[in-house]
Amino acid sequence: MGNCFGSPSQDANPSSSFTTTTTNPPTPGSSNYTTTMDFSATSSSAGKSQFSAAVSEANEEANPNGQILEAPHLKEFTFADLKSATKNFRPDTLLGEGGFGKVFKGWIDEKTFAPSRSAIGMVVAVKKLNSESVQGFQEWQSEVNFLGRLSHPNLVKLLGYCWEDKELLLVYEFMQKGSLENHLFRRNPAIEPLSWDLRLKIAIGAARGLAFLHTSDKKVIYRDFKASNILLDGNYNAKISDFGLAKLGPSAGDSHVTTRVMGTYGYAAPEYIATGHLYVKSDVYGFGVVLLEIMTGLRALDTKRPNGEQNLVEWLRPVLSLKRKLKNIMDIRIEGQYSSKAMLQAAQLTLKCLESDPKSRPSMKEVLEELEQIEAIKDKEKPKGTKSASGSSRSSTSHRSAHHRSPLHFRQRGK
Ligand SMILES: Nc1ncnc2c1ncn2[C@@H]1O[C@H](COP(=O)(O)OP(=O)(O)OP(=O)(O)O)[C@@H](O)[C@H]1O
Ligand SMILES: [Mg+2]
Repeated sequence: MGNCFGSPSQDANPSSSFTTTTTNPPTPGSSNYTTTMDFSATSSSAGKSQFSAAVSEANEEANPNGQILEAPHLKEFTFADLKSATKNFRPDTLLGEGGFGKVFKGWIDEKTFAPSRSAIGMVVAVKKLNSESVQGFQEWQSEVNFLGRLSHPNLVKLLGYCWEDKELLLVYEFMQKGSLENHLFRRNPAIEPLSWDLRLKIAIGAARGLAFLHTSDKKVIYRDFKASNILLDGNYNAKISDFGLAKLGPSAGDSHVTTRVMGTYGYAAPEYIATGHLYVKSDVYGFGVVLLEIMTGLRALDTKRPNGEQNLVEWLRPVLSLKRKLKNIMDIRIEGQYSSKAMLQAAQLTLKCLESDPKSRPSMKEVLEELEQIEAIKDKEKPKGTKSASGSSRSSTSHRSAHHRSPLHFRQRGK
């Protein structure tokens, strides 16, 4: 879960504009909040869904570069189905918790998507929105509209949803290795720290996902790029999740869309926070923040760090251009795994992504190409003098404190 913010004013460009059928989304609890979906072509019968799932899988195989489907191909689950699939949302099936509720592990039949016994069925992740949260509805709807129609190997697959009375749930493919955030910051002695090679692989996968969104016909702006929204499959392939804040990009001739400011502290682009002007390149800034987290192993925002070091970008951006000090800010756990050249190029790329003027930032396609070049650097000479983080401006204490979550969770995703 991140430190999210948002102002409660009306959005000038609702995410639901992605659909052709949805106008003003009904509010849970209001008279037009019914169990009937407002979206066209979402399947409800098991047979249809089976077909849809097969179509969606076939699409991914036939279109490794991704595609936008005409309409969401999703299974509509009943609440009873998902209750049964997660063993009544039993605590031992809990995978994690975000700002909108808990995520449980569940089991469904691969063909019919009916709930099945563990160890037999296909594993899925079931996100259950806090039923008292009225705020989550638009984001739930945006997730169904965007993710239900976007198909790409680096976007997490949404399999279905449930909307019954006040219960809103989403069913995703299960991502075995959890989130990048868990790997970078929650240090569990049982889990090996991510190697430099894996960190690059993950950055490349996530860059491919964002590049697809930005270059698609619809020009989708993701708006909430952060380590917790990058999920990893069993082979550390990265997939972007959580399209609750996604927006359609500007129409031809316009440089940006104007919208209420929502996102996560530490990751959101400065021009967006200051003006509400959201550019495609605002996502590139968030990508730069994640690159910095990947290099340093430190959180974008950590109130446990001393004053002046709490905001990672403000603290370390100046060091990114100082060749000789660069090694001091690299994550100690990947020491010796990368060449000086790779480190330097990664730092320069990060700096470019973090430019204050969105026009000066590279496109995600350019970012992807640059990351692939860094990956191709094979000489793994050890950067000289990289012993420890102590002696650098970063103390070992502040590094350790970054393993823990900030106690000051400030989450206000008001509508
Ligand atoms: N498809 C999935 N497969 C496996 N684990 C998942 C999946 N989706 C989510 N999780 C787990 O559940 C946790 C919570 O996810 P969720 O998206 O609700 O919150 P978050 O990303 O941490 O915060 P935020 O609410 O700011 O997005 C994740 O960190 C991850 O560990
Ligand atoms: Mg998330």
